[in-house]
Order: sequence, then structure tokens, then C-alpha cells
Amino acid sequence: METSETMQVKEMKFRIKQVSQKLDLPVSTIRYWQKEFAEYVDPERTNGGQRRYAGNDVDLLAQIKELVYVKKQSIDQAKKILQNGGRQVEGIDWTDQTILLTGGTGSFGKHFCRVMLEKHNPKVIRIYSRDELKQHEMRIEFGDDPRLRFFIGDVRDGKRLERAMDGADMVVHAAALKQVPACEYNPFEAVKTNVHGAQNVIDAAIDTGVKKVIALSTDKAVNPVNLYGATKLCSDKLFTQGNAYAGEKGTRFACVRYGNVIGSRGSVIPLFLNQKKSGTITITDDRMTRFWITLDEAVELVIKAFYYMEGGEIFVPRIPSMRITDLAEAIAPECKVEIIGIRPGEKLHESLTGEDEGRNTISYKGMYVILPNMSWWERKNYRGGEKLPENFVYTSDSNDAWLGVDELRRIVYGNEKITTPKMRVKAVA
Ligand SMILES: NC(=O)c1ccc[n+]([C@@H]2O[C@H](COP(=O)([O-])OP(=O)(O)OC[C@H]3O[C@@H](n4cnc5c(N)ncnc54)[C@H](OP(=O)(O)O)[C@@H]3O)[C@@H](O)[C@H]2O)c1
Repeated sequence: METSETMQVKEMKFRIKQVSQKLDLPVSTIRYWQKEFAEYVDPERTNGGQRRYAGNDVDLLAQIKELVYVKKQSIDQAKKILQNGGRQVEGIDWTDQTILLTGGTGSFGKHFCRVMLEKHNPKVIRIYSRDELKQHEMRIEFGDDPRLRFFIGDVRDGKRLERAMDGADMVVHAAALKQVPACEYNPFEAVKTNVHGAQNVIDAAIDTGVKKVIALSTDKAVNPVNLYGATKLCSDKLFTQGNAYAGEKGTRFACVRYGNVIGSRGSVIPLFLNQKKSGTITITDDRMTRFWITLDEAVELVIKAFYYMEGGEIFVPRIPSMRITDLAEAIAPECKVEIIGIRPGEKLHESLTGEDEGRNTISYKGMYVILPNMSWWERKNYRGGEKLPENFVYTSDSNDAWLGVDELRRIVYGNEKITTPKMRVKAVA
């Protein structure tokens, strides 16, 4: 219970200099935090514009000092903790974690680094990839952030991976050869990077005592129709079963699976935006549907998977679908549409879970989680997860969430208004 003395202290108002002395903080830091945490620290103003801090403001500044200086939370993390009533937010405390990220200079890798550095303040992220120029450009792009370290290396080189993983806590495996035609034309190379590389990552992680590894999978690994998909399916199997090789070392492996990232290089949005200038949009098949995932969502999924994984799972995000014809209408309603026929290796709809995976899949916290079907696996988490029917498959045409033309237009163009004349669809013989 509060005594009258403590109540009196709470009602007292302090000048910024007094607060600075009380909390042993520079005045400039108090001003900065007050701006950043304006929802929480809100001093009164005197008629002359001077700030007067109440007891509650001082308590909150003390709490922020503890979070930022002692618990080494970033400003964003500290805000989340305050929003959560002072309790640690569900998730991993990354501030003392060293992450090794293979393929760190790619589209996923760079976005992962951006989100982690801005929101989670990891101790270090080690980028592991082959090309020095991409690393140099990334170093500059990230303003020489001291939390980023750059390692030149190939995932085909197990010894180098082992050296790079020494002392790492977590590994994200994003390096891959991922262009379907390139993998078809150079099949040995695809196997060396996507399959042997996966095995090297697993071996090095176990041998160096890494705690958790997440590997990136793709929709193309479900019922694969090309070599890229087949190598990724193989990689998924290696990671799922990698848990059995870890033995007492305790390293845990899981995968995250999603489809084409919207807006990434070579994807359909940049293609349509470019074609828009010519007045004609090409569509391979007007029945085609796709899932819609952004890089932000892909990164969040990986972060979430690290938290929930026990080993052997494949995490699939629950995301909306879209019809390709709706996207074309959203982007270029004035354009003529040519149907050019489905390409070899292209699917009408994306699948994120296969028919054989349905019986092991649960719906959990906004994701589908494909649980491993292995004798060594003991389920501890996932209480409250909803078991799905035996024949469950998650495909872009059978989804229950869809983005319509207006929503797609808003996402691509922001709030810009565009009138929508009816599209003219012309089939090419
Ligand atoms: N983009 C998508 O739409 C999508 C969808 C589903 C799943 N995925 C999966 O997500 C992962 C990342 O994709 P992304 O879009 O970020 O690919 P990306 O932009 O092509 O980047 C690939 C990264 O891997 C590195 N790399 C390639 N071969 C390597 C090797 N042998 N050793 C070490 N590093 C190597 C590349 O750098 P260097 O060339 O310098 O080595 C680059 O940093 C991949 O596993 C992919 O299968 C992507």
C-alpha cells in the first residue's frame, strides 16, 4: 500500500536537471527518451515552457534506463516491453546471440539483417557468401554497422563453414541456387550448392555446437517438377532428419517454407510494371493463382520459427492468395492482356504443403506447422494447436483468404486512385 509519504513524492514535480541527477543520466538523454517514449513520459509544461516531471515520469525513465543500459534492449524492444506492461515480449532475446547467415547478401538476407538490426539488436550477424563485391556494397549500404561481419565462403566448403560458425548461437541458411532454368541447365552445380551445401551446414552446426538452425525452403519443394524444387525437397529432408544426427550436442534444425516473394527481383510485379509501358501485359494462364507474401512477412516467419521450433518442423505462413488476372487489372487496367501459355516447370497454383504432409500438419499461431513424422520426435510445444484433416493441403487456389483488385492496387500503388476500365483479354494461338 502507498503511504502518504510515497504519495507526496509521486505528486512532486521535478525539473529536468533534478531528474538528471536523480537518475544519473545526461539531460540530452532524458530529452531524447522523452521524444522516443512520448506515450509514456509526458512532463507538464509551465507557462514559461519549462518541463516538470511527475514521480511517474521519473519511475518510467528509471525503467527505460534499466531496459536500455542494463538489459541492453534496443529502443524498439524497450517500447514493446513497456507496451507489454513491463514484461519481456514473447520471443528470443537476440541481444546476446551471434547469428551466422548464409546467403546474407541476397534479397532475403539483406532484409533479415535490416529487421534484426533495427528491431532486435543481435550481438553479431555473420554474413556468409561468395561474392566480395556484393559484400562490399552491403557493408556500405548498412553504414559499416559494427554488428555485421562479412565472411567470404562457399557452402560447398565444409571446413570454411565450420570456421565461420565457431561461436555462433543461431544459423539461418538462405544461400541457394534458385533460378529454375539455371538449375536445369547446370544440374551438378544445383546439387552441390543446394544439397551438399545443406549437409555441410548441418555438419558444421552440430560440430560447432550451434543451438538452432533454420533453413529456407520453397513451395517448389512440394511435389517438385524441376531440379530446383527437387534439390530443395532433398535439403528439407536433410534438415528435418539432421536433428537425429545432433545427438547429445543438442543442435536443432527446422525449415521455413514460402512461395514467391512479391516484388522481389524477377517476380511478377516488376514484370507487369515494366510491361505496362508497352501497353500489353503477358499472362501464361488466366486460371493461375499465387500466395502473397512480403519480405517483411518472410523475415517475421523465420524469427517466429526460431522461437517455437523444437526440431524437425516445417513452418508455413498463413497468407492470402491472389489471381494473376486480378493483379494485372490492379497494375495496368488500361493494358491489353496476352495469354502466352504455361511454361515448362510452371504450376497453375502454388502448394505449400503436400498431400503426404497433411496428417502431420497443425494450425498454430497464424502458421501451419508440418511436424516431423519420426520416432525420435517428442512433441512438447504446440499445445492448443489445431489438428488438420488427414487430406489437408494448403494451395493458393483452395485458400480462404484472398486479395481483390482494389486491395492489390492499394498495395502496389499506395493510395493512388486509378480508374478501372474492363481489361481486354486476348488469347494467343
Ligand atoms: N526469392 C523468393 O521468392 C524465394 C521464395 C521461396 C524461397 N526462397 C528461398 O530463400 C532463400 C534466399 O533466397 P533469395 O531470394 O534471398 O536469393 P538471392 O537473392 O538469389 O540470394 C542468394 C544468396 O546466396 C548466396 N549464395 C549463392 N550460392 C552460394 C554458395 N554456394 N555459397 C554461399 N553463398 C551462396 C548469394 O551470394 P553469392 O552469390 O555472393 O555467393 C546470395 O547472398 C533461398 O534458399 C531460396 O530458395 C526464395
